[in-house]
Amino acid sequence: MTLGILLVGGMGTRLMPLTRDTPKPMLPIAGLPVTEHQLMAAKRAGITTIVLATSYLSDVFTPYFGDGSQWGLDVRYAVEESPLGTGGAIKNAAAALNLKAGSDEPIVIFNGDVLSSHNLAKQIQEHVAHNADVTLHLTHVEDARAYGCVPVDESGRVTAFLEKMENPITNTINAGSYVFHPSVIETIAANTVVSVERDVFPALVTAGKKIYGYIEDAYWLDIGTPRALLAGSKHLVYGDFKVDPTSTIAASAKLQDGSSIGAGCEVGDDVVISGSIVCAGVVIETGSEIRNSFIAPNSHIPKDSKIIGNYYSNELISPLNL
Ligand code: GTP
Repeated sequence: MTLGILLVGGMGTRLMPLTRDTPKPMLPIAGLPVTEHQLMAAKRAGITTIVLATSYLSDVFTPYFGDGSQWGLDVRYAVEESPLGTGGAIKNAAAALNLKAGSDEPIVIFNGDVLSSHNLAKQIQEHVAHNADVTLHLTHVEDARAYGCVPVDESGRVTAFLEKMENPITNTINAGSYVFHPSVIETIAANTVVSVERDVFPALVTAGKKIYGYIEDAYWLDIGTPRALLAGSKHLVYGDFKVDPTSTIAASAKLQDGSSIGAGCEVGDDVVISGSIVCAGVVIETGSEIRNSFIAPNSHIPKDSKIIGNYYSNELISPLNL
C-alpha cells in the first residue's frame, strides 16, 4: 500500500479569471480535470489511498471524485478553513491517512498543477533504496530563472534549495512531486502556515537529513498560467481535437490544433475552433470563430462571434495575455 497527498488548495491567482469559479486543479486538460490525470498517474504507480488537500473552492472536488472507487482508489478529503501553505496542507492532510506510529510507509505528495509522465514508481523505489527522508522529482529546464533551483551532489543528494535568481547556478528544478518518510511530517508544525519549498526542505537540508533528487526529464509542465494550460491541453489531445461523446458537433464545423470540447456542448454550422479549451455545457452558434481561447462552462456564444486569445464566460470576456 502506498499513500498519497494531492495539494489542490491554492488560489491559482496567475490563472484568474479562469479560477474564479473553478479551482486550478479542476480546470480541464484534454477534457479531464488536471487532478484526474494526476489520480490516474498515482494509481499507475501503485498508490492506493490519496488525500485531496483542499482549501480554495473546496466544495468542487467531492461531487466529482466521491470516494474514488470509480478510479480504483480510496480518495479522502482534508479541508483547510484558511490556506495553510503547501507544508501546512501536508500536515493537515496526513491526519486523514491515519498513519500508525513508527510506520515507514512512503507518502507521495503531488503539487496539484503539474502534468508529468516521469516514472513515479521508480522515484518511490529509489526513495526506499536510499532509505531517504525525502526524494524529490527534479527536472531540467532551459531557463531556470522563473524557478527556485535545487543543486545535488554526485550521489544525488540535495545540497540546497535556492530561491529564484537572475543567474541560477543549475537548471535543475523542483518538479513538484515528493516522496516523504512519514517521520518528516512530524517535523511540520500543526495548524500553522508553512511552505514546504521555502521552510520545510531548507530546514531538512540544514539538519543533515537525507534529501535525494530523482532526476528524470520526461514530459513535464506546470499549468499555472493561461499559456501553459492551453499548451498542456493541446499536448494531451494527441491530434487535432478531442470531443466528449455527449456533445453535438455540426458536420461543417472545423476543430483544429489540439482543441478539446467538454461534455454536453453544441457546436453549430461553420464554427471554427482552434487551439482552445471549451468547457462543459457550452453552446456555440453558427459561424463563430474561436482561437487560442478558454470558454468557461455553460457559456452561450452568439452567431458569428470572434473570440481570439480570450477568456470567455457569460459574465466576462477578457484577454488571456498569452
Ligand atoms: P498561484 O496563486 O497562481 O501561484 O497558484 P497557487 O495558489 O496554486 O500556488 P502554487 O502554484 O504555488 O501552488 C502549488 C500547488 O500547491 C498547487 O497545486 C496549489 O493548489 C497547492 N497549494 C498552494 N497553496 C496551498 C495551500 O495553502 N493549501 C493547499 N491545500 N494547497 C495549496
